[in-house]
Amino acid sequence: MSKNIKKIGVLTSGGDSPGMNAAIRSVVRTCAYHNIECIGIYRGYQGMIEGDFKEMGPRSVNNIVNKGGTILKSARSKEFMTPEGRQRAHQNLVNANIDALVVIGGDGTFTGAEIFNNEFGYPVMGIPGTIDNDIFGTSHTLGFDTALNTVVDCIDKIRDTASSHNRLFLVEVMGRDAGHIALNAGIGAGAEEILIPEQDLGLERLLDSLKRSKASGKSSSIVVIAEGDKIGKNVFELKDYIEENMPEYDIRVSVLGHMQRGGSPSCYDRVLASRLGVKAVESLLEGKSNYMVGILNDKVALTPLENAIKGHSEIDRELLRVSDIMTT
Ligand code: F6P
Repeated sequence: MSKNIKKIGVLTSGGDSPGMNAAIRSVVRTCAYHNIECIGIYRGYQGMIEGDFKEMGPRSVNNIVNKGGTILKSARSKEFMTPEGRQRAHQNLVNANIDALVVIGGDGTFTGAEIFNNEFGYPVMGIPGTIDNDIFGTSHTLGFDTALNTVVDCIDKIRDTASSHNRLFLVEVMGRDAGHIALNAGIGAGAEEILIPEQDLGLERLLDSLKRSKASGKSSSIVVIAEGDKIGKNVFELKDYIEENMPEYDIRVSVLGHMQRGGSPSCYDRVLASRLGVKAVESLLEGKSNYMVGILNDKVALTPLENAIKGHSEIDRELLRVSDIMTT
């Protein structure tokens, strides 16, 4: 164990995700286990700039393993993107004798941490927290599994009313740049079509597929659309387009929105958060820095932050094929 690190700071930044609290708890308790201090930093990098710090002992994280959101709050700090902002943040950490940082968030959070490490040689460790699952170097990000369960639960409910009224539902799910939520939840909820940014099916192919599904005897349908899909129309324009071309369909749109980011984390996300928090703190104590702690083949694995930021989390091609076969 490194003799240098006596106090670790932890923050959550960017879009929140279920499991962030379980990760904070894990970081705090792993610090306590190794007899080092832990400081919670509020509102991500903005709180670091403003010195919004609070000491956290093992009892300060009681009863949060099951809570969605983040008790440390989250923010996207514009000031941290400036050298002056980072300088202030660094000075605050030095003044508070904080020796290393665990940052929980997505690629924006990791980019900030990497720059900070490069500028000040400051030890940092990242934990991937975003429902989008769009981070290279981990098969799962915190919150992805919970978001999938939320989406499947919503679509199951939508299916009931879709089927009662013989309607076509267009369900938009989150995923600005990635279709992991749409693809997995779409298969899990039995969608007819799944539109994701990684694969542009084209409008014609969508119409063909809907016509085939109607001809095969299906009276109601569900199309799951990732918000970042590349079909060139937003979900409401898509509704108008399908209605113009297939007047036989009675169509409704449902945008699931931020409900996907909330709620109690699934058991999978709680266990993942606990594992990643332990590894993040212990890696810092071993003198490692500038890594993201992720999960690969169900083993905790370190990926250099630079690779986690630059790498692309590919969509699973096998899932695309499974989805095609399931809509037969
Ligand atoms: O957390 C990632 C994400 O859910 C994206 O899929 C979505 O586009 C974005 O957050 C929306 O975030 P916000 O409303 O916080 O800007």
